[in-house]
Amino acid sequence: MNTSGILGAGAMGSGIAQVAAAAGHNVVICDNLTIALSKAGKGIQSTLKTSVDKGKFTDAEAYSLYSRIKFTDHMSDFRDCTMVIEAIVEDIDQKQIAFKSMEAIVDPETILASNTSSLSISAMGAQLKTPERILGVHFFNPAPMMRLVEIIPGIQTDPAVILKGKALIDSWGKTTVLVKDTPGFIVNRVARPYYGEALRILEEGIADEATIDWAMTQLAGFRMGPFELMDFIGNDINYTVTETVFTAFYFDPRYKPSFTQKRLVDAHYFGRKNGRGFYDYREGAVQPQPVKDEKLGRSIVDRILVMLINEAAETLYLRVASRDDIDMAMSHGVNYPKGLLAWADEVGIQNVVNQLDALHTEYLDDRYRCSAQLRKMVREGKNFYP
Ligand SMILES: NC(=O)c1ccc[n+]([C@@H]2O[C@H](COP(=O)([O-])OP(=O)(O)OC[C@H]3O[C@@H](n4cnc5c(N)ncnc54)[C@H](O)[C@@H]3O)[C@@H](O)[C@H]2O)c1
Repeated sequence: MNTSGILGAGAMGSGIAQVAAAAGHNVVICDNLTIALSKAGKGIQSTLKTSVDKGKFTDAEAYSLYSRIKFTDHMSDFRDCTMVIEAIVEDIDQKQIAFKSMEAIVDPETILASNTSSLSISAMGAQLKTPERILGVHFFNPAPMMRLVEIIPGIQTDPAVILKGKALIDSWGKTTVLVKDTPGFIVNRVARPYYGEALRILEEGIADEATIDWAMTQLAGFRMGPFELMDFIGNDINYTVTETVFTAFYFDPRYKPSFTQKRLVDAHYFGRKNGRGFYDYREGAVQPQPVKDEKLGRSIVDRILVMLINEAAETLYLRVASRDDIDMAMSHGVNYPKGLLAWADEVGIQNVVNQLDALHTEYLDDRYRCSAQLRKMVREGKNFYP
């Protein structure tokens, strides 16, 4: 029987613990705050109760799942774990300290994994005596619901550790994709234009939030429009991810954050969680209606879509991940209506290049530079898929 350790019993740690326990694995979850442990326990119990009410589990199954999770404030309980995943605060110094402590406790074969969304896995490994066992395993929130997990080896990681870690997460019923240790990995990088370009369209006065959201959901088939999604994620979190990716890419204008969103964060208009964001969620608030102009809507979809495709193409060009993993991450992982590279084939690569070049000519902004991947494909008359 495999035992997995989770350090940090917050939103992510408790979700990952539930995933592992649901797959029949024993879990040790450790937090230095006992209040966090009791909150995590109650949270998992409440999710399990909902699952029982919905008929997904019997009472006995829910009880047995819960009893496989051991809650502790002693890291020494990680002793027998095959893998330990840290899900503590997003701070490189704190993560490095935690990994050093864990390295002194666990077996030499234990995989030391991090659920970081933005920090360098190689940097976490650098402080270890055995850096070859460091691995990024990036779950999405809420971990029990979201299928995708990005697997990120550091440059020091032993290939056997990658295989073992990936197989373990696969055995928890997740869809794994392999990504190079680069800022934003696949999803948090490739998705940036969904927010960034929508914000530019808003700032330029081309359309308002409701119209852009209408176009992206009703005409392009996305589950949520960019503004409802930013409000759902939380503008504070979404803005920070954009700023982190922008900084990590040495201020590449493709990822430039938006003042419009920054001002919402400044005003504490975080979104759904506190009642106001791009939209007003307070009781009785009147919601803005979209302008359902199909020509305008199509132009919005085209502009955001070519920017998304460009980012996916660049991610492939720089060998950050494979074609299939990029498409899998965006379609199966975060529910885009199609894989972006498959979508590029459908739209026509030449068409994508033409639209990007038109934007570049109009704005003379490096943000709109077309990926060499797309130009090369046009030159060679190729598509992403045969
Ligand atoms: N929340 C998300 O949407 C999300 C998604 C993917 C990845 N992540 C990443 O997952 C990690 C955790 O995020 P979260 O949202 O669950 O955070 P959180 O604030 O909800 O939980 C963090 C927990 O770690 C505990 N903790 C902090 N330092 C500790 C230490 N040294 N030892 C033991 N416990 C410690 C805290 O008490 C807290 O309970 C971060 O790296 C974050 O970037 C978050």
